[in-house]
Amino acid sequence: MFRRDLAKIIAGAGLAGLAQTGLVQTAHAQTPPAKKSSYKVGFAQSESNNPWRIAETNSMEAEAKQRGWQLVYTDAASSAAKQVADVNSMIAQGVDLIFLVPREERPLIPAVRAAKRAGIPVILIDRTVDPALAKPGEDYLTFIGSNFVEEGQRVAEWLIKATDGKAKIIELEGSVGASPANDRKKGFDDALKSHPGMVIVASQSGDFVRDTGRQVAQTLLQAHPDATVIYAHNDEMALGAITAAEAAGKVPGKDLTICSIDGEKDGVQAIADGKIGAICQCSPKFGPIAFATAAKYFAGEKIPPQIINQDQFYDKSNAAQMVAQAF
Ligand code: AHR
Repeated sequence: MFRRDLAKIIAGAGLAGLAQTGLVQTAHAQTPPAKKSSYKVGFAQSESNNPWRIAETNSMEAEAKQRGWQLVYTDAASSAAKQVADVNSMIAQGVDLIFLVPREERPLIPAVRAAKRAGIPVILIDRTVDPALAKPGEDYLTFIGSNFVEEGQRVAEWLIKATDGKAKIIELEGSVGASPANDRKKGFDDALKSHPGMVIVASQSGDFVRDTGRQVAQTLLQAHPDATVIYAHNDEMALGAITAAEAAGKVPGKDLTICSIDGEKDGVQAIADGKIGAICQCSPKFGPIAFATAAKYFAGEKIPPQIINQDQFYDKSNAAQMVAQAF
């Protein structure tokens, strides 16, 4: 935009009007606050109902402590509405930056916009928001996390080999509207398209929760007793599916090939025990990279619009050695 156009807007709209245009917020979000010896940052967690979330929170808290920064922590208890309110409360408390795990892609857009209006930079960690509605480098500083599409793809590729391209698959999806659920489904489904023998017979959400995964797997195994594969969008649901399969008289690893994503200790152990076939890792240890990125931003460095984690892959060739270091 030309300087004279900007001058016209300022003259015509005043500061409040300018804020509506997004120009003020963009300027704030790109300009770090004055350098301080310690910062006050928010961490808006989505829920704490599985080992992955707990490992993520522990990693963030440990890093804040190590740097001597104040951490304002909230837990949205699986409610997107509460998470929006949590972010608004952080804005009211005048935090220097907000780390946000958007529970779902769309309902968290108002939180991202509110922080932008307040001139508070947001770093999305682990999950992202709908890219059609908010963009990194414009509406929020950056996204740090795994490539969820690739995770789904890697599991599909392993399964195609393990089953010789022939399978009847039950898919246990993550939380409805969450970016890992959307993208892990997309990556998996896309990879199967050129393999007509790989058929998804049922696909339903288990909300990333072990017992919900168990219940959904139980129902879907009753409806599709000839299923040969269960693909779960996280280890917790895969572990629930093992319980459901055993209760139905099936032997995981023999009658059913189970695959998932995350790499939590119980999941990696289940590979070593022969009950899960493979897991694509999705690391929850965000503390070091999240705080290092915030520190670079505060130091005036340019931050790339996304920072993608490199994840490992576990199967029977390496699981036994990896259990000890899993979260
Ligand atoms: O966003 C990452 C996913 O969310 C993890 O796979 C899952 O376990 C968590 O709840």
